Amino acid sequence: MEPLDYSDPVAADADPYASWARGRRDAPVMTGEVFGRKGYTVHRFADVESALKDSETFSSGINQATMGPYMGTLILGMDGQEHTRYRNLVSHAFRPSAMERWERELIEPVIGELLDAIAPQGRADLVADITRRYPMRVIAGLIGVPLADQEQFMVWAEQINLGPTDPERGLAASRAMRDYLTPIVEDRRRTHRGDLISDIAHAEMDGERLDDEHIYGFLRLLLPAGAETTFRVMGNILLALLVRPAVLERVRADGERWIPEAIEETLRWESSVTMVSRVAACDTRLAGVDIEAGAPVSLLVGSANHDESVFDHSEDWDIDRPHKNHLAFGWGRHVCLGKHLARRELALGVGAILRRLPGLRLDPGAPTPRITGIAFRGPEALPVVFEPQSPV
Ligand code: HEM
Repeated sequence: MEPLDYSDPVAADADPYASWARGRRDAPVMTGEVFGRKGYTVHRFADVESALKDSETFSSGINQATMGPYMGTLILGMDGQEHTRYRNLVSHAFRPSAMERWERELIEPVIGELLDAIAPQGRADLVADITRRYPMRVIAGLIGVPLADQEQFMVWAEQINLGPTDPERGLAASRAMRDYLTPIVEDRRRTHRGDLISDIAHAEMDGERLDDEHIYGFLRLLLPAGAETTFRVMGNILLALLVRPAVLERVRADGERWIPEAIEETLRWESSVTMVSRVAACDTRLAGVDIEAGAPVSLLVGSANHDESVFDHSEDWDIDRPHKNHLAFGWGRHVCLGKHLARRELALGVGAILRRLPGLRLDPGAPTPRITGIAFRGPEALPVVFEPQSPV
């Protein structure tokens, strides 16, 4: 069995789950090509989880090598103390207690405005009109980037994320984002304006302020990490509900009870991020397979979340599933910094859509949307119809 070809991580039509099911059964830790050299692909929940927890053996340095050229110096590629120190500089902004401010000032107004624009029309593409725009606007606002150019930011974020598969475009986007951000960072260096760019520009490490490389590294990671991921998961949640009208009604009737369940089950079933990368820091052994120092290791969180030894009828989306402890946000020291933000954004976003668009259903005249992609998964479009609302 060969590892899947990741050269096009958002490939149309791709459905990696059948291949991963074979991997869990026949080759839980599979030897084969990873990032163009001999490496290992890990399929089962227990092995993915144990590698994520053991960050000394399974180093994140590989992310600096693959994403560094496009993002700069980034915490996603750091290990040990260095990682802890840099992560601590921004982690306060993402704590659950910080979410209340962002909900009021940013998240609710952003989703409200996007829905105002489509509610009178009675039809929309929820991807183009809502999900592609909403998390980018939220993360841009939280960081302190003006909203006027958010469409441009979305394009740069996508191109930076896909840099390893299209280096020329990735590097151009990386330079363009930095040029755009330079005057904003310079302004925040002079004056703290209460946003995250100000915090990062004023942060000190051993008595010194961060250099440009680290500042832009944070910003070029946070923008794609905060937008690309959440927008795709939101599409997956909406699609899971739209193809199950009875469940959709249940969720609409009692959102407080059921929206969090729909979010967690979708994160387990179809997260936007299906793999995370590590490199073996020393010779080691995982599930009986020897892994030599320096070998790239691909941890398939998407496969782990479908592991039939952990989740009954694991390929199905089931809102009543009792146990949903998934690995969609990773685990261990690199566990997603934005997971509280993502959950709040998704809950408020899905809640507002169901409230503001009565009679919401898939457009019967359009083909049924599908979730596609390998490393990043989501639907390309979600054409829907609903009862048009008078403008507010
Ligand atoms: C549903 C949406 C999201 C998913 C599925 C997701 C998934 C992940 C995963 C799997 C990791 C671990 C990577 C690794 O171990 O190598 C991660 C890390 C990270 N995520 Fe998210 N993420 C989401 C939303 C967000 C948001 C909204 C932000 C906001 C800024 C964010 C920022 C980050 C950062 C900065 C890291 C790196 C943390 C570190 O290296 O210490 N993510 N995310």
